[in-house]
Amino acid sequence: STTPVKVAVTGAAGQIGYSLLFRIANGDLLGPDVPVQLQLLEITPALKALEGVVMELDDCAFPTLAGVEIGDDPTKIFDGANLALLVGARPRGPGMERGDLLEANGAIFTAQGKALNEVAADDVRIGVTGNPANTNALIAMHNAPDIPQSRFSALTRLDHNRAISQLAAKTGATVREIKKMTIWGNHSATQYPDLFHAEVGGKNAAELVNDQAWLENDFIPTVAKRGAAIIDARGSSSAASAASATIDAARDWLKGTPEGDWVSMAVVSDGSYDIPEGLIYSYPVTTSGGDWEIVQGLEIDDFSRAKMDATAAELVEERDAVKGLGLI
Ligand code: NAI
Repeated sequence: STTPVKVAVTGAAGQIGYSLLFRIANGDLLGPDVPVQLQLLEITPALKALEGVVMELDDCAFPTLAGVEIGDDPTKIFDGANLALLVGARPRGPGMERGDLLEANGAIFTAQGKALNEVAADDVRIGVTGNPANTNALIAMHNAPDIPQSRFSALTRLDHNRAISQLAAKTGATVREIKKMTIWGNHSATQYPDLFHAEVGGKNAAELVNDQAWLENDFIPTVAKRGAAIIDARGSSSAASAASATIDAARDWLKGTPEGDWVSMAVVSDGSYDIPEGLIYSYPVTTSGGDWEIVQGLEIDDFSRAKMDATAAELVEERDAVKGLGLI
């Protein structure tokens, strides 16, 4: 089809945006044959910088890019959006408490949820990258009552990709040989990267590695704290890798996961694996035709159970905090 797919991106003048927009415009999301219309949202003071980014997009002469629109009004920018990538968020400033952060982001994701509800396309899919991603997605979802809850997800794909990369390095396998990686829970330090169901060249990853100390003291903390390690090294937070994961997640959601594999996506819990219903919790999912399904029937041992419950408890706390603020 030649009708452009409308992709809205928020925080478009930010670090992640600077990588993400060029990848989308290049066709990395939907393929080189699907024209894309970019609809870019920023706060008013960042619009001038965004104009500069649009000049650079023009200068790339991407054949896939059908058009670009920018603005600071979500009811205009989300109009007709088929995919909304919510990247912009309020970072934690000096002296800001957790509650202040939730409140500042609550205002953003309340307004954006309402605008999506009002003007997005009927088939809209919404991926939240901006932190705290799971809870921001929860707030947007609750403020968009006419959009099916299954259309909202938060990004744990970067954690998923980090886990694959660490496992490949440990086992000497290629990334391509690794399947069925799972990140459970929150995109935060409590997340649980699970090797017990992952496979390396068709063999069970945990059995192949056979090193519980590495798994507990190296693998899990390395994946969970990778964001902080990047900030230490680079002086700013992960951006190109976060953009790449944002694309991976949206592409697999829209185009489907391959047979014999799954991906990690934070989606609304239906109570699967005894996780409280209604939380935006990262699960192993398969996708097809733009819909996801939580992988069922995985055996969970006591070690995994405790980690899955701890990250759920953190999400319950965040949910209760935003409930207390009247945001959901
Ligand atoms: P950044 O600070 O460089 O850019 C954020 C942009 O969002 C800024 O240009 C800002 O003006 C804009 N913005 C703020 N409020 C907005 C609003 N109401 N509407 C539209 N735009 C708005 O930050 P960066 O590095 O691009 O990261 C963006 C977010 O992604 C952060 O919250 C970061 O913590 C998160 N992140 C999430 C990851 C994940 O795996 N889920 C990984 C890395 C970053």
